[in-house]
Amino acid sequence: MPASTFSPQIDHAAELLVQGQLVAFPTETVYGLGADASQPEAVAAIYLAKGRPSDHPVIVHLAVGADPAAWAAPLSSTTEGLLQQLIERFWPGPLTLILPRGPGVADAVTGGQDSVGLRCPAHPMAQSLLQRFTELTPHQTLRGIAAPSANRFGRISPTTAQHVREEFGDAVHILDGGACPVGIESTILDLTRTETLGPVLLRPGSITAAMLSEELGAAPLKPDRAAPRASGTLAAHYAPTTPLVLMDKVELAAIAEDDIAVWTRTLPLKNKAWLRAPNDAAAYAHELYGALRRMDALRLRQIIIECPPNGPEWAAIQDRLMRAASRN
Ligand code: TXA
Ligand code: MG
Repeated sequence: MPASTFSPQIDHAAELLVQGQLVAFPTETVYGLGADASQPEAVAAIYLAKGRPSDHPVIVHLAVGADPAAWAAPLSSTTEGLLQQLIERFWPGPLTLILPRGPGVADAVTGGQDSVGLRCPAHPMAQSLLQRFTELTPHQTLRGIAAPSANRFGRISPTTAQHVREEFGDAVHILDGGACPVGIESTILDLTRTETLGPVLLRPGSITAAMLSEELGAAPLKPDRAAPRASGTLAAHYAPTTPLVLMDKVELAAIAEDDIAVWTRTLPLKNKAWLRAPNDAAAYAHELYGALRRMDALRLRQIIIECPPNGPEWAAIQDRLMRAASRN
């Protein structure tokens, strides 16, 4: 084999994956906790590390150029057409597509469901890892890295290597790629029922419903009860330990107590526990989980976040804040 063109750290991490070990790696959204998707025991180790129920599916991450249809059952021409259109426009990038599951996909990956979630991340380090992993596994027909967000179940997703360390200590090998640029998890679009319903938006993300509508010519549908289950769609998710409340500017301005952490876009900062939130949606998403962790670490009585504005680019942020607040 010719000398690897990858850095020693990428080489090493890819080898760990081939050996069945876990590797946390940066993506453009959040850090993932990865395992070789073809090794059920390795995928099971993800569930164990996270404390996550084993019937929850994990996303398979693919190298640029990998064929997502190889992971799927034979697709109808409608689904095939949508898939091609979406990957041409949005891959590599923060869009996860749910397809009917193909025969070679492990139960450990799908949580026993008849669908599989696939995403081609845009982060250069994630792509280097995927490319090297693909080189090292030439005999495998399906080559991908199964990875949920690298946090314990129900907790805030990590957007830096330090956050991953806070979750797992030294128990997990971490590739440090700095802060994740997007900062919130990928948009999830279900393509398993395109014949009867159309594409269904299971989780909003930085690829907005408006961007999907523009590409597809129609708005994606909201999830119904028959939609594939997604743990990121549980009511209480992404939550800090400190109770979190959303308030509008007027209510927030009336707060007199000192034992409260506040994240505000518009009000003057009253004390050290009042932190400034960005006004721009992309910058807000980038900082959100780090800010939640920082405010949680203050161990105050409550965290209050000023309600974000409305508008399509704020929908994913509103979704995450509502879930974080619903833990109370
Ligand atoms: O941005 C992201 O999506 C990050 C990075 C690491 O790629 N990953 C992530 O994974 O957020 P996780 O497991 O924390 O959330 C993925 C969501 C879960 O809610 C899971 O239930 C859903 O995707 N999912 C995965 N496969 C699925 C499937 N076959 N059917 C329905 N939902 C699926
Ligand atoms: Mg998660």
